[in-house]
Amino acid sequence: MSDVNITSVLQETRTFVPPAAFSQQAHVGSPAAYHELWETAKNDPARFWGEQARHLDWFEPFQHVMEGQMPETKWFTGGKLNASYNCVDRHLKTWRRNKAAIVWEGEPGDTRVLTYQDLHREVCRFANVLKGLGVTAGDRVTIYMPLVPEIVIAMLSCARIGAVHSIIFGGFSADAVAERNNDAQAKVVITTDGGWRRGKEVALKAAVDESLVKSPTVRSVVVLRRTGTPVAMEPGRDHWWDELMAEATADCPATPLDSEHPLFILYTSGSTGKPKGVLHTTGGYTLATMLTSKWVFDLKDDDLYWCTADVGWITGHSYVCYGPLANGTTVMMYEGAPNWPDEGRFWELIEKYKVTIFYTAPTAIRSFIRWGDQWPQKHDLSSLRLLGSVGEPINPEAWMWYHKVIGAERCPIVDTWWQTETGAIMISPLPGATTTKPGSCTHPLPGVVPDIVTKQGESLPANSGGLLVMKQPWPSMLRTLYGDHERFLKTYFSEIPGCYFAGDGARRDADGCFWVMGRVDDVLNVSGHRLSTMEVESALVSHPQVAEAAVVGFPHEIKGEGICCFVSLTGGDGDDALKQHLKEHVRRQIGALATPDMIRFTSALPKTRSGKIMRRLLRDIAAGRERVQDTTTLEDYGVLAKLRASEE
Ligand code: WT7
Repeated sequence: MSDVNITSVLQETRTFVPPAAFSQQAHVGSPAAYHELWETAKNDPARFWGEQARHLDWFEPFQHVMEGQMPETKWFTGGKLNASYNCVDRHLKTWRRNKAAIVWEGEPGDTRVLTYQDLHREVCRFANVLKGLGVTAGDRVTIYMPLVPEIVIAMLSCARIGAVHSIIFGGFSADAVAERNNDAQAKVVITTDGGWRRGKEVALKAAVDESLVKSPTVRSVVVLRRTGTPVAMEPGRDHWWDELMAEATADCPATPLDSEHPLFILYTSGSTGKPKGVLHTTGGYTLATMLTSKWVFDLKDDDLYWCTADVGWITGHSYVCYGPLANGTTVMMYEGAPNWPDEGRFWELIEKYKVTIFYTAPTAIRSFIRWGDQWPQKHDLSSLRLLGSVGEPINPEAWMWYHKVIGAERCPIVDTWWQTETGAIMISPLPGATTTKPGSCTHPLPGVVPDIVTKQGESLPANSGGLLVMKQPWPSMLRTLYGDHERFLKTYFSEIPGCYFAGDGARRDADGCFWVMGRVDDVLNVSGHRLSTMEVESALVSHPQVAEAAVVGFPHEIKGEGICCFVSLTGGDGDDALKQHLKEHVRRQIGALATPDMIRFTSALPKTRSGKIMRRLLRDIAAGRERVQDTTTLEDYGVLAKLRASEE
């Protein structure tokens, strides 16, 4: 990170005003209403958050809204509450008792519906199971499960008794489980015999067995039967979920916990070295996920809300479980792959259950585009009223496709910027208030005060690319990296004095809209100009023959860095003429400065299991280096050989 001024070349001028009918019924229904909320929060954050916190149920009221300077701010000190109580019990006092909390479909097509009353009973019983295994407040519990309702039951049961859950995405390996078990010193692991993914069984229990050889702190394993395939059960250590539940009563009052009591640890990959155990706490996290769900997704009692993320990622923690359930929402969950048994599965689900709000990732949207419009067009998607995007910058062309083909030009799109570390959405349109622009996450939510700065922390003017920072603390900010507070301080608070900085480059336009340009580690330096890889990718994807693109720099004698583009096509193999044509296309779209030096066609790009392109690997390949990077988070190893073979 030498000089941080990043030249922005993305020119996007289309704007979309919220449909009047949407604004009329929205929680926040006009730009003025949004501005008032944002200004109030900025001018007196303690008062704003103190008032908002009344929307939670407290066992004991807090004495102080916020105490201490960022990064050591504590929220709602003196207050006692329980996240599980706020997501479940409090709805039992209302008509929502018999409302569906979870509408679930398994990959093979089996279905289940749990009302809030059902969820309460299961959570209470499983909390008693955990107690029976000796789990007490503060103990860490690993959850390694597919997307079945019991993953939410397990989370809320931990929260109910103050145990700290650490969910490991079901696609991770035994080694990853062992490493996380050890780092968290987990006492119990909750898993299943297996899970379904594209018709094949993922052997979760077998991976747990392998991990436990290397993680000695784990005393008990609870195994839910999902696939029915026989698995090894070690007597004394391993227990069947249903057998323990049969013995457990449904009487388990939620434990009143300090607002700052740890709620969960979630490991996120660092750019180097071991994963970072991001720690979130009870009061601030529950409040922020509840409020942002309501504002951003405009949740109403008759919505069927579907966030397609796996619960193993932060998106699933905050926007499948805690945020929507704290609002008493009906949440849709689907266990399997979007292309099983065919590429129409998501659209079939939307039609079948009449989903109203759909929240997914740009990487998924680009797959839908590649699979073809005929899949969504086979289904009636008219129940949809709002669409969301999260995980990376969405290319304007993908945004337009989402708007037209899925949203029928009727549904607002909320492009939500946030991070595992921020816990909740930070910058996003409010669908009834904000004029959207394809590719921009628009404005900060109330209580969020971002800026674009230089490395010295000076604010940059409109349209200058720089570092995206937060200048004020917010309730769902990570509190530490588990067991390594020094690394926490160094990673997020040492780079820019007085600010939170988690690595993204961005610019703000003349209307105050934020345009995130990706990780600053990914920025190209071409002939002294710093360019965002994402902007070159967007230019490539705007070409009809390009399905997906990943752009990296490579050492170049003259320019310092040259631009290498890995491109997958919507069809056909690609030839030299197309390479030339694509170089021209980028040049025309964004200028000579950004003309690619190298185009390499490939059938697939290396991605992490959460869908992020692993640019580190591509940089090695572009530079002709043998692999030196860690590849344990790579989803498909075969892709590396294909990429090497994609010579220019
Ligand atoms: C990074 C955080 C937050 C849930 C999923 C990812 C990128 C995320 C956007 C967006 C542009 C985005 C950023 C961020 N990112 N959402 N709407 N526009 N970039 O969580 O794995 O912690 O990744 O994802 O680079 O820093 P995560």
